[in-house]
Amino acid sequence: MNPAIQMEPNMSDPSSAPSGRTRMLSIRNLSKTFKLHMLGGVELPAVSGVSFDVLQGEFVGLAGPSGAGKSTVLKCIHRTYLASSGEILYASSRQGKLDLARLPEPDVLELRRTEIGFVSQFLRVIPRVGAQDLVAEPIRIRLGLDAPAAAARAAELLDRLRIPRRLFFAYPATFSGGEQQRVNIARAVAWEPRLLLLDEPTASLDAASVETVVELFAELRRGGATLVGIFHDPELLERIADRTVRIGDPG
Ligand SMILES: Nc1ncnc2c1ncn2[C@@H]1O[C@H](COP(=O)(O)OP(=O)(O)OP(=O)(O)O)[C@@H](O)[C@H]1O
Ligand SMILES: [Mg+2]
Repeated sequence: MNPAIQMEPNMSDPSSAPSGRTRMLSIRNLSKTFKLHMLGGVELPAVSGVSFDVLQGEFVGLAGPSGAGKSTVLKCIHRTYLASSGEILYASSRQGKLDLARLPEPDVLELRRTEIGFVSQFLRVIPRVGAQDLVAEPIRIRLGLDAPAAAARAAELLDRLRIPRRLFFAYPATFSGGEQQRVNIARAVAWEPRLLLLDEPTASLDAASVETVVELFAELRRGGATLVGIFHDPELLERIADRTVRIGDPG
């Protein structure tokens, strides 16, 4: 069992990283405030003063009470949200150190195509693309496999995740929540992203599927990937993460 080291935001010391290991993410004083235009521009601070590091190859869990800002932190890293202040330094394999809090949008899109993946509880369904094609597409484009090889790899992943073969050509928009989530995970791990962000990826899965997903994440890590994840099940988090960063209560 992996020890879960509790580390409060702001307590990470940049010099504490073991020498020789790349700091994949270095988050400093990250804050995100939402401006609610529908409510006359009232400002709602979601997170403030969050600082932590993630080393290359680590699996770091984010924990904290509901509403503490865990998803917000993850979305700021993925740039679904733009940070209000602070730094999110990311060590890109091709572009060196980048600040995801300030990076121009085209560069963010390029990173999402080539380095950084995201799995949420919800599948962002592409209409009229079948499940197998949905998973094969990033394998073909990002790993450079030809169409038959990509289709075979996609089928292997979907089989492992117990998606019935009769659904391979069906559109995931009509799938059950758990089926959608498994297709989502297959698509996210298929192209072997360098950094994978996970927002409750196992929330609606049965126990057997959770175990398969845990294996898939372990395989990604053996390939050198770094993972940052939120899990609704604290026992699962403790089992699979190297350590946990706590995101405190807002305000
Ligand atoms: N797009 C948004 N617009 C306005 N407020 C938001 C938005 N996203 C998040 N928030 C607010 O930010 C705070 C933190 O939300 P967040 O979803 O990050 O919490 P969380 O820790 O992931 O909670 P949970 O465990 O319930 O998923 C909440 O008060 C939420 O209402
Ligand atoms: Mg959340």
